[in-house]
Order: sequence, then structure tokens, then C-alpha cells
Amino acid sequence: MFVIDIEDLYFSYDKNNWALKEVEFKVRDKEFVGVIGPNGGGKSTLLKLILGELFPDRGKLLVLGRPPLEAVSAIGYVPQHVNFKRSFPISVMEVVLMGCLGKDTKKIFSRYTLEDREKVKKVLERLEIMHLSKRAIGELSGGQLQRVLIARALVSDPKLILLDEPTASLDANSEAGVFDLLSELNKEMTIVVVSHDVAFVSRYIGRVACVNQRLSWHLVSGLQEVDLQKMYSHSVCAIHHDHDIKIKSRGENDVE
Ligand SMILES: Nc1ncnc2c1ncn2[C@@H]1O[C@H](COP(=O)(O)OP(=O)(O)O)[C@@H](O)[C@H]1O
Ligand SMILES: [Mg+2]
Repeated sequence: MFVIDIEDLYFSYDKNNWALKEVEFKVRDKEFVGVIGPNGGGKSTLLKLILGELFPDRGKLLVLGRPPLEAVSAIGYVPQHVNFKRSFPISVMEVVLMGCLGKDTKKIFSRYTLEDREKVKKVLERLEIMHLSKRAIGELSGGQLQRVLIARALVSDPKLILLDEPTASLDANSEAGVFDLLSELNKEMTIVVVSHDVAFVSRYIGRVACVNQRLSWHLVSGLQEVDLQKMYSHSVCAIHHDHDIKIKSRGENDVE
């Protein structure tokens, strides 16, 4: 059984343009998969479909063998944009506790249990950020904040974790820290991470999906970094198909 099983999926925000089309995306248990692609290519949309925040217009979409909304408690999610104002007076502990709520809206009105708090402590210890638990979220560095968001996604013991550009605003050192952590977590769970940095991703990940309305898979393991760069620019060319064809036909016209 695939953890994510997507076949011939189509999705549009407005009926005139497909944000995603003909997408096949199958991910096995404990795989560590990268998702790359240009801005506006549909990477965040793909993750939101897997989470059940959006619904496909057409096609098959199963997560852990079930429709996404039935699987959502088994999915951890680190969104691309978080709506914390840096000045908002909320502590690390409180942010991570929010991960215990899941989609259970009834629970929002009840209090966190002792068990919830114990779970949070365990996760904070594991991610080596226990010492930050009382800190206000606005006082954290970018790398620390990412760890907190990953902790929030982990408290519900997910089988699958989806991360949307978790290292976009980080320096190379913190980025390596996050990816080291993810490869550690990958021993226990399936990971799908959107990243802009293919050379970086390729050090950790064997298989990347390039998303630009359509989705194409690329194997990257065992290649040199230089080759990977070549492959990426090649894949981008392949994906910018229309553009590519235009350039070619202009060249042909020049010769005539
Ligand atoms: N809420 C929305 N409403 C309408 N269009 C959207 C919305 N979110 C994204 N889009 C459009 O869908 C396409 C894919 O966006 P997105 O999935 O955010 O791309 P990526 O994450 O790869 O940058 C883009 O053309 C974007 O403008
Ligand atoms: Mg995005």
C-alpha cells in the first residue's frame, strides 16, 4: 500500500486554469521525497490536497489508503507561511501544544491534558529545544522557529509529515540542521519536503518530484552535485516545454 496514492489528479482554483493536471504521485512507507519546482508551479497546492484542505476536481487521491480527511490525524504539516506575528505573546510550549488539537475542533474548547503536555515535552527534548519552551515565539531565530514548527507537527505521532519550504529563510548551517533532523525522523515516518534548493536536497533524498502544473519524477541518488545541477536545469527545460519549443522554432526560422 502507498502512503500517498495519487493518480491522474486535476485541480483548479478557477475553472479556466489547471493548477495541477495529470498528476501521478505515489509515495511508499518511510520514503523521503523531495518536491521541487518553480514559484507558482503547484507545490503548496499539492500538499494542501494531500492534507484534505483542498479537493481534486478529478482523479484518485488516497492517503494511507483513505480519503485525506479520514487520514488527517496521521499527517503532520509544516506550512510554508505561518500566521504568527513576531510580536504575538505566545510561548514555544503553547505553539507546540497546538499540534495536539489536530482537526478535533471540539478539543479547542477543552483544556490540554497532562498527557498532551508530556508528549510536547518529549518532542521538545528530542528536537533539542526544551530550553526554549518558555520563550516567546518572536524571540526565536529562523532555525529555532522551524524546529518549533516541526515539533508542533510531530506531537500527534504522524505516520506522514509534509513540510513546505521549511528552510527557505534559513542559512546553510541551519538548513543542514533541519535536514539532518528530517533524515533522523525518516527512520520512523514518511517525509515529503518541498524545497527550492535541489543541490541541497539531493544530499539527503533519492527521489524528487518536479512540479510545474504537471509532475515529473527524477532519481538523484548517486549523482555528483554538478550532474544534479545539470539534471535540474534540464528538468526545468523539460517542464518549461512551451518556452523551449518557442526558442527552438525561432532558431529554425533564423536558419531559413
Ligand atoms: N488560494 C488561491 N486561489 C487562487 N489561486 C491560487 C491560490 N493559491 C495558489 N494559487 C495559484 O495556483 C498556482 C500554484 O500555486 P502554489 O501551489 O502556491 O505554487 P508553489 O507552492 O509551487 O509556489 C499558482 O498559479 C497560484 O497563483
Ligand atoms: Mg508554495
